[in-house]
Amino acid sequence: MFSRVFPIVLLTVFLAPFAEAADPQTAKQLVDTHCYKCHGTEVYTRPDRRVTSLPKLHSQVRRCELALGLKWFDQDIENVADYLDKKFYRFK
Ligand code: HEC
Repeated sequence: MFSRVFPIVLLTVFLAPFAEAADPQTAKQLVDTHCYKCHGTEVYTRPDRRVTSLPKLHSQVRRCELALGLKWFDQDIENVADYLDKKFYRFK
């Protein structure tokens, strides 16, 4: 049992940092490519910003993405919302 599970555990532990590192980079690229057409980062940090929670951040990213007609996957929305949260909002 142990000998069968161990390589998988080892592989997961080994690959996890790479998976973690890839997502913020992809999210940053998505934002840099698509999200500066109507507003810059000032809307994320202004004192009267509209987004006040993580779920609201998700729906706002979805709304803006739809306005662009990009057809992102849910995973992209999630990554971008997490990226904006880490960089600007800091709900988590
Ligand atoms: C078609 C124009 C447009 C594009 C392109 C756009 N946005 Fe927006 N975005 C808006 C408008 C309009 C608002 C609301 C600004 C306001 O209320 O003054 C907004 C607000 C936001 C907010 C909320 C800011 C706050 O007050 O907390 C977030 C987050 C956001 N956009 C993310 C994005 C992301 C991510 C992208 C790239 C997918 C993007 N936007 C691209 C138009 C756009």
